[in-house]
Amino acid sequence: MISPDAALTSSPEWQALVACRESLQNCPMKTLFVDDPERASRYFIEGAGLSLDFSRNRLTDESLGALMALARSRKLEDRRAALLRGDKVNITEGRPALHTALRNPGTDTLVVGGQDVIAEVNATLDRMETFVTEVLNHSRTGYTGKAFTDVVSIGIGGSFLGPKLVTEALQPYRTPGIRCHYVANIDGTEISETLAKVHPETTLFLVQSKSFGTRETLENSKVARKWFIECSGNEQAVASHFMAVTANVNAAQKFGIDPDNVFPMWDWVGGRYSLWSAIGLPVALSIGMDNFRALLAGAHAMDNHFRDTPLEKNLPVVMAMLGIWYSNFWGAETHAILPYDHYLRSLPDHLQQLDMESSGKRVNQQGKPLNYHSGPVIWGGVGANGQHAYHQLIHQGTRLISADFIIPLQTHNPVATHHADLFANCLGQSRAMMAGKTLEEAKAELAASGLTEAEVDRLAPHKVIPGNQPSNTLMMSKVTPETVGALIALYEHRTFVQGVIWDLDSFDQWGVELGKKLGENIRPRLLGAEKSDEATDSATDNLIALFRSANSG
Ligand code: F6P
Repeated sequence: MISPDAALTSSPEWQALVACRESLQNCPMKTLFVDDPERASRYFIEGAGLSLDFSRNRLTDESLGALMALARSRKLEDRRAALLRGDKVNITEGRPALHTALRNPGTDTLVVGGQDVIAEVNATLDRMETFVTEVLNHSRTGYTGKAFTDVVSIGIGGSFLGPKLVTEALQPYRTPGIRCHYVANIDGTEISETLAKVHPETTLFLVQSKSFGTRETLENSKVARKWFIECSGNEQAVASHFMAVTANVNAAQKFGIDPDNVFPMWDWVGGRYSLWSAIGLPVALSIGMDNFRALLAGAHAMDNHFRDTPLEKNLPVVMAMLGIWYSNFWGAETHAILPYDHYLRSLPDHLQQLDMESSGKRVNQQGKPLNYHSGPVIWGGVGANGQHAYHQLIHQGTRLISADFIIPLQTHNPVATHHADLFANCLGQSRAMMAGKTLEEAKAELAASGLTEAEVDRLAPHKVIPGNQPSNTLMMSKVTPETVGALIALYEHRTFVQGVIWDLDSFDQWGVELGKKLGENIRPRLLGAEKSDEATDSATDNLIALFRSANSG
C-alpha cells in the first residue's frame, strides 16, 4: 500500500489557508462589500483583452495573500517556465506540452529534442494557409470542378470540442459559402444525419485524429468514405475530398489518404490543447486564415500575460487559486461555467474535457495517493437558459457551487434591448448568488402582498435564499478571434496552475484508456463472437445477451 503524501496539507501555507477559511466562515460576502466600498475595483484585473471581476468571492486580502503564498510554495513560477520552455511536463508519457508554441507567431526558435518546434509550426501554418486559400478561392475544387461548400470534420474529444466551439463562437467572421459540420460520436444517427445534408461533389472530409487509432473517428470515416464512393462512383476522387490531420501519417496512408493530404501533429501537443494546430483546419476554413491567425494571436497574448504578470494580477493564476480555495478549503465539488453569449454555448463542453481530463487524477507526480481533492466536476451551459433550469439548485440547494459568468460587453447582433436584458440577467444572477434573500426580507415581501401572519410564517422559509455563493465575472469587449483565443488559453493555464498546486500530471488521461480497451473487448461479442477468456461480470453478460437478441436476424 502506497502511503499518501501529506506534505502539501501539512505545509504552513496550506494550514494558513485552513485558518483563513475558519475566520471567514461566518462572514458573508455582503458584509465584505459593506465594509470596503473599494472592493469591486480592488478585485478587478485585466489582461489580453479580458477583464475579471472577482470581488464576489469569499475572499479578503489576507486569504488572497495566503493563496498566492501557497502558489509560490509550490514553485509555480518555475513550473510555468518549465512548461513554456518545453520540459517534459507530461511525466507519465515523457513529453513536453507545447501548445503555447503553436501560437507563438514570432521568429523565436524553440529547440526541443533537437527539433525547432516553432519552425515546424510556422511551416504547417503556411501549408494550412495555402490549402485554405485554394479552397476559398476555388482553385482547389471537388472532383467535378465544383467549389467546396461543406466541410465535414470527423474527430472526437480534443479533435472535436475545441474546433467546434471556435467555429460556433466566430460565426460573425465566417467565410461565405462554407458550412462546417462536426461528427464525433459513434452513433449511426450522427453520421447519417450529416451525410444527408451534404453533396459528394462539394464536400471536403477532414479526418482529425492525433493517434489515427480512435475507433469512433475511424469507423465514421470509413462510413463517410464508403458513402462518398457510392455516391460519386469515383474512388480516385477520394484523394481530393479526404484530408487528415494526424501524428500517425502511416495509419492515415493505410486508410487511403494521400500523404500529401496529411497535415502533421506532434506528440508534444495534447489532444485537448490541439485546436491551435492543424486540428484547427475546419476553423480556418470556416473563418479564413487571417482570422485563424488572429485567434492564435489572442491566445499568445494570454500566454504572455500568464508568463509576465505578477501572480496577484495574473488572470489564470487568480482564477486557478480561487478554484483551489473552494475545492480544498470549502468543500466545493463542482464549478459552473456560465457563458452569457450564444456564440460561446459550447465553452462548457470544451472546458469539461480540458479540465476534467487534466485534473481528474488520484495520485501525485510521485504516484502517491492524494490526501486532498483534485479537480471538481465542471459543468454549465449558456445563460439565460440555465436560469430556468439548474440555477434553482445554485440558489437554494444544499451545496456550495462556484461559477464563472462570461459575457461580452457588446453584441454582434443588437436586437431590440436584448443585450441589455441579457446583461441584466447575468448581473442579476451573480448578485442573487452573492446577496440572496434573508428570512426577514422574505417575510416583509410576503406581508406586503397582504398575506396573513400565519401564511407569511408558513411560506417565508421557502423563499429564503442563503446567498454567499461565489462567482467570477469574466468580460471581453466583444466575441472576436482575439478574445476567444485569449479566453480558451486562459482556461488552459488555469488548469495547468491547479495541476501544479495538486502536483498532478495534467497532460495524461489513463482513466479514459481503460474504458476504450474494455469496449474493444466487448465489441466482438455484440457482433456475434462467443465469450472469450476476457473477464466480464454478470451485468455485462446479461446486457450483451439483451443487445444480441434485439439485433439478431
Ligand atoms: O478522450 C481521450 C482522448 O485520448 C482525448 O484526449 C483525445 O483528444 C481524444 O481521445 C481523441 O484522440 P485522437 O485525436 O487520437 O483521435
